[in-house]
Amino acid sequence: MDRRTFLSWVGVGTLASSLPVVLAACTSGDSPSPDTSDPSPAATTADGFTEVGKLADLEGNGFLIQEDFSGAPLLVIFNPDDKTKVVAFKNQCTHNQCPVDWNADEGTLNCPCHGSKFKADGTVANGPAKDSLPTYEAKVEGDAVLVKAG
Ligand code: FES
Repeated sequence: MDRRTFLSWVGVGTLASSLPVVLAACTSGDSPSPDTSDPSPAATTADGFTEVGKLADLEGNGFLIQEDFSGAPLLVIFNPDDKTKVVAFKNQCTHNQCPVDWNADEGTLNCPCHGSKFKADGTVANGPAKDSLPTYEAKVEGDAVLVKAG
């Protein structure tokens, strides 16, 4: 056997011996595939509400924030007049779009940028903002806080 024939046989043998490994890697088999799904997809109910958080988190923090709800930040608080209900706001001050902070002691939503304050229903308590914070329909079902994009 000359050198060329020997090398071609070694090449064929190497290819043949690695074929089962290549085939095993290409088949699905029983090995689990990586989980690429979103670990916490927002569940939307049949009536158009989307879960934005858990009641326990709202109770613990006094508010819920979602950075992107229907294209804008969201803030959810308990209704101070009826703690069994929740109020959801587009969390952008109507003066110049700064996010507001819930101040439970004052019962107001305060803008840190220029001092506007909003009542717990979103109406202006003092400016410079002139318009109310937009609100969304919101409710609690079981342990879920649900908001409907409007
Ligand atoms: S952005 Fe809120 S008071 Fe100016």
